Amino acid sequence: MPSVLLFGATGLIGSRLAIDVKKAHPDWPLTVFVRNTKVDEWFEATAKADRIVHGSISDTDLVRSLSKEHDIVVNAITSFDGDFIANVIAGMEERPEDSKGTLVHVSGTGNFIDNGTTGAFNPNGKVWNDDKEEDIRQITRRMFNGGTDVPTLEAGVRGKIITYIVCFAVTYGSNIGPAPNLGVAYNIFTHNAKQHGFVPYVGDGTAVASAVHVADAVPFLSKIVSIAGTEKPTGSAYSRYYILHGERVAWKDLSVALAKVLYAKGTVSEPEPKSVPAAEAGEGEVGVLIASNMLVKGDRAARLGFKVTHRSILDQLQEDLA
Ligand SMILES: NC(=O)c1ccc[n+]([C@@H]2O[C@H](COP(=O)([O-])OP(=O)(O)OC[C@H]3O[C@@H](n4cnc5c(N)ncnc54)[C@H](OP(=O)(O)O)[C@@H]3O)[C@@H](O)[C@H]2O)c1
Ligand SMILES: *[C@@H]1O[C@H](CO)[C@@H](O)[C@H](O)[C@H]1NC(C)=O
Repeated sequence: MPSVLLFGATGLIGSRLAIDVKKAHPDWPLTVFVRNTKVDEWFEATAKADRIVHGSISDTDLVRSLSKEHDIVVNAITSFDGDFIANVIAGMEERPEDSKGTLVHVSGTGNFIDNGTTGAFNPNGKVWNDDKEEDIRQITRRMFNGGTDVPTLEAGVRGKIITYIVCFAVTYGSNIGPAPNLGVAYNIFTHNAKQHGFVPYVGDGTAVASAVHVADAVPFLSKIVSIAGTEKPTGSAYSRYYILHGERVAWKDLSVALAKVLYAKGTVSEPEPKSVPAAEAGEGEVGVLIASNMLVKGDRAARLGFKVTHRSILDQLQEDLA
């Protein structure tokens, strides 16, 4: 039975995955890595985890030794911290050749923004497709999640470990885990709005982001964990990259829905969003994100069974943030 180690188990994505993995494989030992000391009971009783390890990203020796010890390592803790993923990979690569470990890394489609500055829809923008290995080869360290994707892909090419990357679009939906984490995208949007005192968008706001419901995406992630534990890998590391997305949503529409909820909660003082120049949309990468188009297509993931069945972020947002 392959053992599974899950980093980020209290997150929006990680908590659902913990439940899914044990439902699919009750006999696969699951270790969850958590820094929150008040969640053990949930992981024992609800997720049925076999082992709970308390620690944080900065416990580098612990991260490294656990990564070496487990057959499958899932990274749902950070897609930004290159030192973390390098440490995980270094631990995993210490395993002997005849018991290679598999890394399942969760990434994000922030990689694939067009770095727009006008906030307008770009009908000629490149659509990044997980079915085109040449697209995945073009991921660089300077992209949103490139700092973790590139070392993961490089490790997959080296071949001392097996790698899969599951790349989530802007992820929404409710957290069913023991901690009230909203997920990275909602955190960024809420924090940015709070800093402005209103919800900003750029230009006419027709630029689009791609979104995915966590309840559509996590079953697919869980399927990749199953594959990692039962099948021999095929193809190159660049072919084991899956983009999960549902609808495209205009930043203006997203901002209108967000402003309504954040105003009701008292997070911002304006019930309507405001158009701003790209330079004022947010700090660093966040401003670029909001001004950009995020055009992706997940043909490879769809072929492996990924389907969208849940409702739109525009309908779901109020409930998620309430
Ligand atoms: N949400 C999205 O839109 C989205 C889209 C694409 C990709 N992703 C990626 O998917 C992964 C999971 O995201 P998420 O949305 O589920 O995030 P989340 O809800 O914010 O969860 C993050 C998880 O990581 C843990 N964590 C963060 N820093 C830590 C540290 N220094 N030490 C120990 N634990 C730490 C958190 O623990 P605590 O509960 O203790 O804070 C939590 O379990 C991330 O890599 C993210 O970038 C997310
Ligand atoms: C957007 O900017 C990032 C960071 O500079 C860069 O790595 C990426 O290649 C750019 N994307 C496009 C489509 O130009």
